[in-house]
Amino acid sequence: MSATPHSPIPQNLDEPLPVTLPRLAEKKRLGDPIVMITAYDYPSAQVAQDAGVDVVLVGDSGAMTVLGYPSTVPVSTDEMLMLAAAVRRGLKTPLLVGDLPFGSYEASDEQAVATAQRFVKEAGCDAVKLERGGTSVARAEAIVDSGIPVMGHVGLTPQTATALGGYKAQGRTAARALQVAEDALALEAAGCFSLVFEAIPAAVAQELMPHLEIPVIGIGAGLATDGQVLVFHDLLGIYDGHAPRFAKRFADVRAAMVAGVAEYAAEVRSGAFPGPEHEYSIDEDELREFRESLEAAG
Ligand code: KIV
Repeated sequence: MSATPHSPIPQNLDEPLPVTLPRLAEKKRLGDPIVMITAYDYPSAQVAQDAGVDVVLVGDSGAMTVLGYPSTVPVSTDEMLMLAAAVRRGLKTPLLVGDLPFGSYEASDEQAVATAQRFVKEAGCDAVKLERGGTSVARAEAIVDSGIPVMGHVGLTPQTATALGGYKAQGRTAARALQVAEDALALEAAGCFSLVFEAIPAAVAQELMPHLEIPVIGIGAGLATDGQVLVFHDLLGIYDGHAPRFAKRFADVRAAMVAGVAEYAAEVRSGAFPGPEHEYSIDEDELREFRESLEAAG
């Protein structure tokens, strides 16, 4: 067996280096905004890779955007793992975070660690994300203790939206803002490497930021956070459902897709597609022989 050690020096020095947890901490320290996006399959991962984002989240928002469920609640661990494994195959450099789905980690530390391990072993995720403070703090600590990095998620936590009174901004009273602060600080103390702040007042996020040492990624939390995340389908305009206030559309890909498919349908119906340039040829002699054999065979 060869004893040649692996070289720690990358083969191609022009290639961007993989995004690591220390790199994210460094970005926070330098005030260099962290760019995070969700992805749910191989092509969306390749888009994220080519666009040069820092972190890719296989969000349980995929339950709605790609699987068609009415909320994030029904998606199973197996479904999330299939999405995450496809994303892994399309990524090289961004940090890959897998979202632990509702019901896959809340019951016990053992359940949380076992599910997190599946995301790492079966889907190749670098880290996992879980929602809420409360009992999720102990779950986060158990997963971190098992050697898997954890991203926390506070504010609007869609898995428990019903208990929060619906898909509404959180932390809009002093008491509720304090609850968000307590959850965030507890998750940091539990060892989370990063947090998501979802749908909280920008001023509350701004007050909280100096109290947190780990990178915070915002979605509907204003500009004070260390980075931003958006749902792939929201930002590209692929998803036809309700878009939350914080989702800015940077493209209208759905309209382009519908137009493309409609044009295809029209060309099939008119006979304009396929054209000669889409056909394969056969040598004249071969075709004659084939025709004769076909006739001889009756
Ligand atoms: O599931 C998801 O897409 C998320 C982001 C909104 C952070 O949790």
